Amino acid sequence: MICRPVIAALALAASFSVIPGVALAQTPADFPGRATGYADVPAIAVGAAWYPEHWPESRWETDLKLMKATGFNTVRLAEFAWSRMEPEEGKFDFAWLDRAIAAAQRHGFMVVLGTPSAAPPAWLTQKYPDTLRVDENGRRAGHGGRRHFSFASKRYRELSRRIAVEMTKRYGHHPAVVGWQIDNEVGPASFDAESVAAWHAFLKARYGTIDELNRRWTTQYWSQFYNDFDQVPLHQTGQQNPGLLLDFRHFTTATWTDFIQNQASAMRPLIDSRSFITTNTMYWNAGFDHFVLHRDLDIASWDNYIPNGRPDWVSNGANHDLVRGYKQRSFWLMETQAGHVDWGTINRALDPGQVREMGWQAVAHGADAVLYWQWRPAANGQETYYGTVLGQDGKPNLIQPEIAKMSTEMTGAAALLADTQPTAQVGMIYSFDSRWALDLQPHNKEYDPIKAFTDFYRPLRVQSQGVHVLAPDADFSAYPLVVAPHINVITAAQAKHLEAYVRGGGHLVLGARSGMKDDANALWPERQPGPLAALLGARVAQYYALDEDVGITGTINGKASLWAEAIEPSARDVRTLATYRDAGGWLDGKPAIVTRKVGRGSITYVGALLDPETMASLATSLLADAKITPIIAGAHPDFEIAERAGGGKRVLIAINHGDVAHPLALPAGARPVSGDWANGSVAAHGVALFELAAKAR
Ligand code: GAL
Repeated sequence: MICRPVIAALALAASFSVIPGVALAQTPADFPGRATGYADVPAIAVGAAWYPEHWPESRWETDLKLMKATGFNTVRLAEFAWSRMEPEEGKFDFAWLDRAIAAAQRHGFMVVLGTPSAAPPAWLTQKYPDTLRVDENGRRAGHGGRRHFSFASKRYRELSRRIAVEMTKRYGHHPAVVGWQIDNEVGPASFDAESVAAWHAFLKARYGTIDELNRRWTTQYWSQFYNDFDQVPLHQTGQQNPGLLLDFRHFTTATWTDFIQNQASAMRPLIDSRSFITTNTMYWNAGFDHFVLHRDLDIASWDNYIPNGRPDWVSNGANHDLVRGYKQRSFWLMETQAGHVDWGTINRALDPGQVREMGWQAVAHGADAVLYWQWRPAANGQETYYGTVLGQDGKPNLIQPEIAKMSTEMTGAAALLADTQPTAQVGMIYSFDSRWALDLQPHNKEYDPIKAFTDFYRPLRVQSQGVHVLAPDADFSAYPLVVAPHINVITAAQAKHLEAYVRGGGHLVLGARSGMKDDANALWPERQPGPLAALLGARVAQYYALDEDVGITGTINGKASLWAEAIEPSARDVRTLATYRDAGGWLDGKPAIVTRKVGRGSITYVGALLDPETMASLATSLLADAKITPIIAGAHPDFEIAERAGGGKRVLIAINHGDVAHPLALPAGARPVSGDWANGSVAAHGVALFELAAKAR
């Protein structure tokens, strides 16, 4: 679907210098292995972003001792230290980093190194102003912030690859270095001349001929017709062709993927196979297709922040599951807040206990690492108000004992959690193309594709106690139930793949607006769900944006908000589960939810956005039809229950997100391991770990 520029393999001189090793203070045997498959990496890593370059070297020992006392085993270094590692063009100074890594190693820490391309040094942007990012209005960025480079600049890529290669030549086989993070939260696109040229090359590779582009985008509309690729403007927003705007996002996906691989492919031959390469991503970020970007990375990692300090744990859990889905395996939480952030509108701190609670939530969803951002505030710089483990005086903040407690619990449970992955019987399809298409043309300004996704996720997660988020082309065979809440854009291949799943006995549920567009953001000629309408035996006769709720009645009763589709069954064996009532106008009496059995499988279409109670009863019936039972039946809805299984082990994690203690009926044979389990209950905002018997479920 997405044409990615071919990544040129970099031929590298085979002479790499390995730092003479200081004896390992902590041998791999102390770290019992982990689900990500890198033997030397801790099964559970806990730690922080540490910036030794901000501090006198005489302070480092104290910091490392305090980190040790906080229960940490991992530090992340150097992702913003380009000007320190290469103070002048081509002159490298790694002596300080050698000593910082050696000091971390002496204290038994594992080290993750970041390549520094998110923040170019002043000599670079001064000498090569062509590398600076240009925004959509044509304004070139200045120096002093970060991410002010053009993602398409060849020169910038060369310079950032060179520093990445220098780092890997030096530390690629360092025994303490277990992983590499490329760049930091890649994101903003550039609209400079090189990016425009890359856009034209991208479109040419995608469509072959300008005629094909004209056809797929319907450029006869408003006389947009292009004679040549060079005429196509580069735009992210505005009143542009929806095909152009969707392809812009395909272009940014390809360009960022290529940007990352430009470094990764050069680094790969220089690093131990035991260490991973990743990049850290952001909360529900829509800047590029994360499934595509992660194809050639080893693990996924992300930065989890709750700026208002009031976690919606279900939505947060959904984002963890999405990140797990990028590689279908456990991931790293590369950054999370030690209390509060400094970039929200209010920056409220999490309540006592919630930092630990959210850390454990990450592990419950498959994180093998929880790293705090950051260890200690720099004396100046853009982020002095940020929540940190230490204060500016170098002494622990009030949050430190809570983080220490969590870290000690996690490293204590590492042997048990090693080689385990979160289990789930429900798969949910997340489609970046669909999210973009809906964001671009919401039709109702309140329509939010993330909300449409999490509204389905919420009751399914709470009731089934495990959801895996999947790409539209993932293997669905392990899931009796697959729900696609917003698959607005669907390719013919994806439709076939879904049809095969249903014909193979799977239960597929499509949400409103599904099957409307193809991957050029053009309408499918058939009405929704387009290429799946024949399988459904029904189609959407008409969609309606709502400014007030309408009722639905039938097997499922309740309300629809913001969006309602009148469904028209054509096949006789289609069953209507709900029709609109008291809706007036066009909707009254029209089917809102229909389902059809296909062999042992089924396809269901939900043509409206439902209120939470209605969604909960729909989830109950979908789970029953797919014969999915929870790990612990009847658990209070404040509980987040999760299972991680693997290596012959089953671990149950129960998190009480509520403000009061709740009883929890454990499965037979469950053995309490650690946490806040007492007298048959889990404390308010408490976490409890249990080992489950192999066949308790
Ligand atoms: C992340 C970023 C960090 C730090 C942090 C503060 O987005 O990667 O460098 O800025 O936010 O929230």
